[in-house]
Amino acid sequence: MIIRVLMLIPDIIIAIDGYSSTGKSSFAKMIAKEFSFLYLDSGALYRGVTLFAIENGYISDDNTINVPELAAALEYVDLKFGEGGTCIGDRCIEQEIRSMAVAGKVSPIATVAEVRAFVDRKLREFGKAKRVVMDGRDIGTTVFPHAELKIFMTADPLIRARRRADEMAAKGMEANIEDVLKNLQERDYIDSHREVSPLTQAEDAIVLDNSHMTMDEQIVWVKEVIKERFGL
Ligand code: CDP
Repeated sequence: MIIRVLMLIPDIIIAIDGYSSTGKSSFAKMIAKEFSFLYLDSGALYRGVTLFAIENGYISDDNTINVPELAAALEYVDLKFGEGGTCIGDRCIEQEIRSMAVAGKVSPIATVAEVRAFVDRKLREFGKAKRVVMDGRDIGTTVFPHAELKIFMTADPLIRARRRADEMAAKGMEANIEDVLKNLQERDYIDSHREVSPLTQAEDAIVLDNSHMTMDEQIVWVKEVIKERFGL
C-alpha cells in the first residue's frame, strides 16, 4: 500500500507553513523520506543570514539592523544546503543556527525586505526541481503561491515549547522552557505582524493541529490528504 502511494505521487511542491516550533521541519523531513522528495528548510536560511549578521556586526544588541550594509554583504554570501546541513561556503553552521542567540534575532532579521528577497531567490531556484517539500512562514502565500499542496501547522504553545526545549536538551544545548516559550511567542508575534510576507494561512491551505498527534499519525493524515487530493 505504501509502495503504491510512493509510485503514484505526482511531481508537486508541498508547502508547509505555520507557527514556530510546531514541528514543521520534522514533519517535512518525514514527508521527504516517505515520498522521496527534496526537503528544503527556509527557516534555516533566515537563521543563516542571522548568524552572518551577528558575526559581522550588522545587528546590534538591541536588534537595530544596518540594512544597507547587510543587504550589500549578502550579495557575496554563499549560503546553501550541504551534506551536513546549512553551510556558508565550506563552513557548516547547522548547530550554531539553532542556538537561542540566533533564535532571539532571527525574526527581526526576517522582517527586512532585502533579506526576504535574498532567501526567496534561493528557494525559488531550489524549487525548480519539483518534488519538493519546503517549510516556513510564507511558502504557500509568497514563495510558491501555486504549490499544489499547502499545509498550515499549529499546536498548543506550551506543548511546542516543551518539544523545542527537549530537542535542544537532546543536542546538549541550554534550554530553559520559559525562555523557549517566550521566544516562540515573540517570534510568532513579529512573524504575523511584519509588513513583508507576514505569517498567514493561505486560503487554500489545510490546517494541521498536531498538539496531540504522533509523527506516525501525521504521516497517516498526510497520506489520506494526498490520496484524496490527487485521486490516488
Ligand atoms: O523551527 P522554528 O519553527 O523555530 O523556526 P524556523 O522555521 O527555523 O524559522 C526561524 C524564523 O525565520 C522564523 O521565526 C521567522 O522569523 C523566519 N522565517 C520567515 O520569516 N519565513 C520563512 N519562510 C521561514 C522562516
